[in-house]
Amino acid sequence: MNVLITGGAGFIGSNLVHYLHDHRPDWKITVVDALTYAGNLHNISSLVDAGKVTFVKCDISDAESVHALFEKDQFEMVFHLAAESHVDRSIHSASEFVRTNVLGTQNLLDASLAVGVKRFMHISTDEVYGSLGATGKFTELTPLDPTSPYAASKASSDLLVEAFHKTHGLDTIITRCTNNYGPYQFPEKFIPLFISNAMEDKSLPLYGDGMNVRSWLYVTDHCDALLLLSEQGESGQAYNIGGDDDAEIPNKVVAEAICSALDKPSALIQLVTDRLAHDRRYAVDFSKIHQAVGWEPSVPFEDGLLRTIAWYQENRSWWEEIKSGDYRDYYERHYSGR
Ligand code: NAD
Ligand code: DAU
Repeated sequence: MNVLITGGAGFIGSNLVHYLHDHRPDWKITVVDALTYAGNLHNISSLVDAGKVTFVKCDISDAESVHALFEKDQFEMVFHLAAESHVDRSIHSASEFVRTNVLGTQNLLDASLAVGVKRFMHISTDEVYGSLGATGKFTELTPLDPTSPYAASKASSDLLVEAFHKTHGLDTIITRCTNNYGPYQFPEKFIPLFISNAMEDKSLPLYGDGMNVRSWLYVTDHCDALLLLSEQGESGQAYNIGGDDDAEIPNKVVAEAICSALDKPSALIQLVTDRLAHDRRYAVDFSKIHQAVGWEPSVPFEDGLLRTIAWYQENRSWWEEIKSGDYRDYYERHYSGR
């Protein structure tokens, strides 16, 4: 199988590159990534340097480059993960989100149609459904009701994918996963931010009352679901992917677990001004994917969190380098005065 992974130098993308290389060693894998602030070639350099994965630096919003690449390489399957992915950044400025997440997706769909891609895996998010109250879960029939500009751009891309399936018969699958965590996650996101700040004895900025709930999934469980759906999922369908009931945890409890695992005082946790329009709770009903391909989460949150903490301890130079670069300016701008 000749496979393209977009966003393969980012968090989930790089984990997927390693996962597919390990589980489908005969697949020919090409990664396309613009290497924005969130992309890091180091995440996949062991495979790229060994000639096992091909890397192409390309901005998916550049239609000409995308078409040229597809014409040259004639991909059979696309795993589309490239995106602007951080809600807080989309609140500061939405334009990059529309450019990459909407126009970039359209370019990939056009190019896939032009060369006859056999399956287009669109990696979306449960955030397209909006926010839940204290009970209930998102199903695939829940109406799209995105809150943030990030979520709205992902919902728009989902609709484009559906339109290409309905109009042109392109073989597409949309996946909507809950919050991932694990190795190589950029330290602007909650779990790696809190782990790395705690390791540096810095404060842990918890938004609002700290009682927003996320449903956590260890990243390799997400990769497992994507591989299964790419081979056995039904064309034109959307599938929710997510943590089980035990993985639905208020942010404050996650923050306290991080402090405790690192033997740091929970006094490091500081309540700060809330995110604008902060979605209260996410949780998905994943019975559809379970019935279709037998998938369910395999890594309990307690184990996954300890594995993740160990990875950030063993790879301190990876995140220290990121935190000392441009990211420092973002951090100052975003958190000062909160
Ligand atoms: P990430 O921000 O870590 O990585 C995104 C990657 O896309 C980076 O390598 C970046 O360089 C690349 N990229 C950005 N703009 C690009 C462009 N114009 N052209 C080419 N490459 C570009 O994101 P992530 O957390 O790994 O998320 C990957 C995908 O999974 C996204 O589509 C996201 O919406 C979705 N998702 C993420 C989560 C999560 O919890 N992180 C959960 C569900 C779905
Ligand atoms: O649900 C899937 C989504 O999960 C993905 O589509 C997004 O790409 C991904 O970023 C993630 O979105 P969230 O907004 O849920 O993730 P984030 O890590 O930014 O925040 C998780 C929770 O922690 C959320 O309730 C906000 C809170 N938080 C976050 C940060 C960065 C804080 O309390 N303090 C912080 O500094």
